[in-house]
Formats: sequence, structure tokens, C-alpha cells
Amino acid sequence: MYRSMISCIVAGLSVLLAAPTSAASVGCNGNSALCSRKYSNVTQIGSHDSAFVGVLLPDNQYIPVTDQLNFGIRFLQAQTHKKDGGIEMCHTSCLELDVGSLSSYLSPIKTWLDGNRNEVLTLLLTNGDAIPVSQFGSVFAALGLDEYAYAPGANLAMDQWPTLQSMIDAGKRLVVFMDYHADPSSVPYILDEFTYFFETPYDVTDKTFNQCTLDRPGGASANGRMYIVNHFLDVDIFGILIPDQINAPKTNSQSSILAQSNLCYQTWGRMPNFILVSAGFRPPTLRLS
Ligand SMILES: *[C@@H]1O[C@H](CO)[C@@H](O)[C@H](O)[C@H]1NC(C)=O
Repeated sequence: MYRSMISCIVAGLSVLLAAPTSAASVGCNGNSALCSRKYSNVTQIGSHDSAFVGVLLPDNQYIPVTDQLNFGIRFLQAQTHKKDGGIEMCHTSCLELDVGSLSSYLSPIKTWLDGNRNEVLTLLLTNGDAIPVSQFGSVFAALGLDEYAYAPGANLAMDQWPTLQSMIDAGKRLVVFMDYHADPSSVPYILDEFTYFFETPYDVTDKTFNQCTLDRPGGASANGRMYIVNHFLDVDIFGILIPDQINAPKTNSQSSILAQSNLCYQTWGRMPNFILVSAGFRPPTLRLS
């Protein structure tokens, strides 16, 4: 049953790739109503573990990053790890899943930003191995991606963020966060995630997503922080958590996402800034039934 589900997805994918969606080039991030909004006052959909594309158990996404962006994803989360002195995109460890270098991951993102000039994109890199941030800076600079990166120069309060239009006008359309070991005094455009955000719990196995609690940074206040909702479901297989691909169509449905977002609104008095989804983000026509 699992196998037939996978082939169904792959069949659907080829239909999708034959007729690629192009990103909307009007307004700001596809909507003129967003142009005058501050970056901190927009809700966007993000891709959890965006680099892990495939149908293996540890994979999180079915389609490559460029296609994710063309579908409307505007927030990419990705794990980095240290390997042979370089920065590699690995899942938990490079022995489990290694999909290549940070440079090979970022290169299509640079190409996409070149071709989509009215789009503001956010990147969240994890750095569990405490790789010096200057090493990340070198990879960004070698690709010319640093040119797009927004550097506020000081910690911004929520109401100090620029509007999407002004970021687009300035050509500073890439906002980069790092979960741990950011150092803006070394690389001014790699911002500390938890200075700016809190997150709801991840590795959720309750498919109702009936919570919007502050998980990280532990003990911190929600006040003054934007927030990221982890709306992706795992399934516990003999103690190992893997993406719940079978429930993904339901998890990624508008009703499921809106239900948790509305709960978040009731809890915090404002909508989430980013909602991370996983495993099977794809257009409704490709949903399994
Ligand atoms: C967010 O944008 C909406 C729509 O423009 C506006 O009504 C609201 O006041 C804004 N909130 C903040 C905190 O800027």
C-alpha cells in the first residue's frame, strides 16, 4: 500500500513538472495588498527541511526547491552540518542523508531571486554543528547571494521592519536567519532566529494540531517576537519519528492550516508569520484520495 501511494505521487509529479507554475510577478510576493505591509506583518508558508527532496523515509518534500518557490513557498528551512571542513545539507547526520553542499542548495535560490524581482524570500538555516558563521558568509558571497541579503544593522523591534515594497525597491529581498551560532558582528545579514522569533513545538504527532504554545526559546516571552508555526506531522515508527506522508494531504489542507492559525490568533492576538509544512506540499489536484 505504501508503495502504490509513492508511485501515485511520482505519477502526479510528472504532470506537475510538465506544466510548471510560474511565480506571480505582480505586487509584492504575488499580491499588491502586501506591498505596504511590514515584513513582520505578513503570513507566509514555509517548507520544513526544504533540501530533503525525494520519497525515502527521511525525506520531507517531494519537489525541488525551485518548484517549491514557484508554488508560493516563501520561507525555506534547511539543516546544515559539518562535513570534511565544508557545509553540507544533511538530515540529522551526513550518514543518514546527505543531499550535497550548501552551495549547491543555495545556487538555484540565487537563480530564482534573479528571475523573480518582486519577491521577498526568507531562509532559515540550522547550524547544530556550530560552524563559524563566516564560513556561511563565504558561501553566500561566492554565489553573489549576499547582494540580496537584508542586513538591518541593529536588532529590529517588530514594528521597525521595512515594508515588502521597500525591501523590493532596495533589492534586499533575502532575509536569512540561523537557529544557533549566528553572529551579526561577523556576518551582518545572518540574523539570530530566536532574537526575532519564537516557534511552536515541532515533531508533532497529534494530527489535530490543537495547540499554539511557545516551545523555543524556552522560557522566553512571545512579546516582541514574530513566530513560526510548525505545521508538519510526524509518525512514530518504533520510537523513530518520520514524516507522516499518508496524512500529509489532510495536514496541508487549507482547513487544517487555518484551524491552527486561528487558534494561534486567539492565543497571541496576531497571526503567525510563518507556517512550516512538510511531506507532500503540492497542489490540491495532486492530493491523494
Ligand atoms: C498589519 O497589517 C494590517 C493590514 O494592513 C493592519 O491593519 C495592521 O494594523 C497591521 N499590524 C501591524 C502590527 O502593523
